[in-house]
Amino acid sequence: MLTITFRADRPSDARPLVLPVAKDEAIDAHVPAGIADVAKAAAARFTGDAGAIVDLHAPVDGIVRHILIVGTGSDLAADKAGGALVAKLLTTETGLVVDATTIEPGQRPLFAARLAQAAMLRSWRYDIYRTKLPEKQKPTLTEIEIVVGDAVEVAEAAFAPLKAVAEGAAFTRMLVTEPANILYPESFVERCRQLTDLGIEIEVLDGPAMAKLGMGALLGVAQGSARPPRLLVMKWDGTGGKADPVAFVGKGVTFDTGGISLKPGPGMEDMKWDMGGAGAVAGAMKALALRKARAHVIGVCGLVENMPDGNAQRPGDVVTTASGQTVEVLNTDAEGRLVLCDAIWWVQQAYHPKTVIDLATLTGAMIVSLGHEHGGIFANDDDLADQLVSAGKAVGEKLWRMPMGEAYDKLIDSPIADMKNIGPREAGSITAAQFIARFVNEGVKWAHLDIAGMVWASKPGTFWDKGATSYGVRLLDQYVKDVLEK
Ligand code: BES
Ligand code: MN
Ligand code: ZN
Repeated sequence: MLTITFRADRPSDARPLVLPVAKDEAIDAHVPAGIADVAKAAAARFTGDAGAIVDLHAPVDGIVRHILIVGTGSDLAADKAGGALVAKLLTTETGLVVDATTIEPGQRPLFAARLAQAAMLRSWRYDIYRTKLPEKQKPTLTEIEIVVGDAVEVAEAAFAPLKAVAEGAAFTRMLVTEPANILYPESFVERCRQLTDLGIEIEVLDGPAMAKLGMGALLGVAQGSARPPRLLVMKWDGTGGKADPVAFVGKGVTFDTGGISLKPGPGMEDMKWDMGGAGAVAGAMKALALRKARAHVIGVCGLVENMPDGNAQRPGDVVTTASGQTVEVLNTDAEGRLVLCDAIWWVQQAYHPKTVIDLATLTGAMIVSLGHEHGGIFANDDDLADQLVSAGKAVGEKLWRMPMGEAYDKLIDSPIADMKNIGPREAGSITAAQFIARFVNEGVKWAHLDIAGMVWASKPGTFWDKGATSYGVRLLDQYVKDVLEK
């Protein structure tokens, strides 16, 4: 992993030197004396756009150095600057010096800390299965030093929690990236056991325990797989028993074939990341524990594999959920809601949270609605929805509120059971949310985040290369900070 250190003044060695420059700012003021002309010529078309990079080689203090001028835009975009630097230099440089004294002192420590976090996130890779990766494609960048003048301690203090969150995000990305032959309900749980070292308490329900509790919906999904299901509970209380818990619940379908309502072959490999909600919950718990958040949070992951073997549930089967409500399973591929309804019901009975937030790669329709720009949020409480939307905005994990209501709810009434697990073709994400809503207790504030379009990226972004984004981790952390720790 990338090592980040903060220091007071600029070292005069041969490492590349990064100079952050804001939108439309003159670069002369920020480049070392003597190279202003070379820099200006190289940066002729550079206007400080966030993440834009100009590089040149010029002598500084008698050593020819690789100089990178990086734009921070008009809103001090530390994220984009840090991400862009790492994207460019990850496999070519070994160390970097970022001179953040170009940033006004009042904003410098937070700028430096956020740039560092973005650099950590952007440098994450998972190469363990690439035994023949060419040398040239291997990451070389291992350390970044950030020069902050007299703000070393303030920057370090600002960075500590952000580093914890980046480590939580890395944990999520590992879980999301692992293929389904490696990561299945039991091995997901095993990976999370390491969190007990951080003070997280873990509780695991196996199939028989869930059967005793009557979780017929979750178990119905699991019954077509050779991999037994698990309900994983991770508890973090940084309040010393003083606060009521908030519950985070994640959909953890470690592979979704669709079951007997089998998905088409092309693209089915994507369904290894159908546990992205559970992955985000686990990573958020890790982040909260690492930074010792003053909050009480219960993280629950409903872990199953959705497979179509001889024991699999059939379209038309009726299952009884832990709540006692019955469900006609018309489509075995609408399995996420079947897992969530029992997990959400259970956490309410066991821990009486006043707020429940679930995260799930629940519907393809969500991607049709919002693409890969926003996750969808459905909520029974305006304040909770607003809090989550603003938390998402603050960290760049955007959410867009979707409507709910009785007219949508009616669409999942069943002629044979209390409800069916699919509605008509239209409003597919909303009827999925309505289904879950039927398992939320009166008086509980609930939000459902449908993150189907956000968990996996097919192209590089500010914080990731292709692949797992860890969407949800920074959002949940920010929510905890804004709402539970305020
Ligand atoms: N895991 C999928 C949703 C999904 C699709 C996530 C694509 C990410 C990318 C979910 O279990 C599913 O199959 N949903 C069905 C619901 C339908 C049968 C009502 C869907 O979206 O097609
Ligand atoms: Mn499915
Ligand atoms: Zn699914």
